[in-house]
Amino acid sequence: MKRFLSLTVFSTALLVTSSLSFAGQSARIVGGVEVDPAKTETRYIVSIGGGCAGSIISPKWILTAAHCQSIFKSAITGGSVNLKAPNRIKLEIKKSYIHPKNNAGNQSYDFALLELKEPIDFEATGLTSIGLVTPEIATTGATDDGQMATVLGWGTMRENGSVTPLMRMVDVPVVSNERANAKTSYNGSINESMLAAGYDEGMKDSCQGDSGGPLTIEGSDGKPVLAGVVSFGRGCARAKYYGIYSRVSAGYEWIATMTKE
Ligand code: ARG
Repeated sequence: MKRFLSLTVFSTALLVTSSLSFAGQSARIVGGVEVDPAKTETRYIVSIGGGCAGSIISPKWILTAAHCQSIFKSAITGGSVNLKAPNRIKLEIKKSYIHPKNNAGNQSYDFALLELKEPIDFEATGLTSIGLVTPEIATTGATDDGQMATVLGWGTMRENGSVTPLMRMVDVPVVSNERANAKTSYNGSINESMLAAGYDEGMKDSCQGDSGGPLTIEGSDGKPVLAGVVSFGRGCARAKYYGIYSRVSAGYEWIATMTKE
């Protein structure tokens, strides 16, 4: 296990105690902006105990990160961009599944699937699902170096900062595994199950508490499509240390098999 990977899962307690400590700061997620509550296309995102996030991929399934598994027993809520809104929709987990090739040591295949007790009624709840970047979509170059992606979450607004109850988002370009594996960057530890995104100069990134949440690209119909799951990084928004995501196209086969009716 490389020492620099910060994989702490944030607890609900942290969220409660930190809600006022970011007053006056402008950058959250890191370097992002608040998500407009009217953006209904973001209603596929759920919060897992305030410490991780996940994406609804079908009425019965949520995709998140394997390294969030210690909090899978916590409340899963969706709906509002505001974690403190009183009317958040609660979802109950029947069972969780970890990708068979997941390796907690190097965070390979950092994927988990949560099977819900009851299928979500999208019409009644206003929740929605998000499509996945398939291996086929990936071959079109949609997740190649330089393609813009968006990451969303309730995580900290800077390294060692506080989490936020209001969902934030930031745009970051995809970085090829080759560039992310440079000596001055992750030095060979990024494998085929991972996808890097960020700027050489840092400044914009996901951070602690965003784990399990979505990195999306724009689909051909203009709707977001899930390209990555927030996994890890060396610190947050540091120069050359891009955010690392589980590569959805690499986990696609397992996800499709598991969620097939
Ligand atoms: N492992 C973190 C979590 O549990 C996510 C870290 C993402 N880091 C980054 N630099 N993008 O919330």
